[in-house]
Amino acid sequence: MISDGKVLNNIIATQSVHEKYGGVVPELASRAHQQHVVPVVHEALTDSGISKGELSAVAFTRGPGLMGSLLVGGSFAKSFAFALDLPLIEVNHMEAHILAHFIEDPKPSFPFICLTVSGGHTQLVLVRDYLDMEVIGETLDDAVGEAFDKTAKLLGLPYPGGPHLDKLAATGNPGAFVFPITSMRGLNYSFSGIKTAVLYFLRDRVQGDPGFIEKRLPDICASIQYTLIKMLLLKLMKASTTYGIDQIAIAGGVSANQGLRKALAGLSEKLGWQVFIPRLEYCTDNAAMIAMAGHFKYQKGIFCDLDVSPSAKMKI
Ligand code: KG4
Ligand code: ZN
Repeated sequence: MISDGKVLNNIIATQSVHEKYGGVVPELASRAHQQHVVPVVHEALTDSGISKGELSAVAFTRGPGLMGSLLVGGSFAKSFAFALDLPLIEVNHMEAHILAHFIEDPKPSFPFICLTVSGGHTQLVLVRDYLDMEVIGETLDDAVGEAFDKTAKLLGLPYPGGPHLDKLAATGNPGAFVFPITSMRGLNYSFSGIKTAVLYFLRDRVQGDPGFIEKRLPDICASIQYTLIKMLLLKLMKASTTYGIDQIAIAGGVSANQGLRKALAGLSEKLGWQVFIPRLEYCTDNAAMIAMAGHFKYQKGIFCDLDVSPSAKMKI
């Protein structure tokens, strides 16, 4: 919940149901949303001490995302807005990740470049204003979060593997093993190759030494992480020089990665960048960022009709 651009609370329900399947099961995600949406909103209201009658608008995620989950959230938001006669605000999930930078100080000023890295997206976004954004580069296949999760799965780590791989990488040697750096044209990325490279690498090594993964786990993690971060930063540097912008932000679940945060801090010193990295709770999916995006639209009076439908592939 948000009031005058100030976050009152950030209540979320985490879905642990996917862990045992090694990935998000869409059907289970929708069910969990359906189960949790009313209790979460109820808790947000109780916690803030604000009554339903005092609300000014309802913001919800229209997309991108899993259709079932978007339907649940969208249907609830519409009904809630209709019942209370409140304006409804549709929010783009990826824009909201970027607008999470305006929750707390220090805030970037315009224009800035945001590297948005999550489980479903990897984008370089030129942010001219709160609601004026342009994608200047993106992955042509897998998202970087997917690359983290898929390679972590090959190593036998639990889902989602990104944070586990990150933790193990902290004690490993990033130069222990070399994986190929893929570079696409312009400011675009490709992360599908690294999964195959790691798969073959492990298959070959394990053949000669069945205990290889167990023995070298931190080194393997550090080497994979090094490669992924290197790919991210090469294009980020190119974007910075192409557009002559040195205000750089990162957003999305993978921006919680300690290796990426450290590498960016290093670049900030080396290249004179001003780097903006949100607090961990505002990097991964959260309610406050949706409310923040809603706040900026509310200020401009941008509302949507009650017949709006979800958009699984919604673009910035
Ligand atoms: O933005 P997010 O919470 O959800 C989506 O919109 O996708 O991002 C989730 C992704 C997952 O792939 C997860 O493994 C990754 O973010 N992630 C991390 C870390 N924390 C979350 N990846 C690497 N290192 C981390 N510390
Ligand atoms: Zn997200």
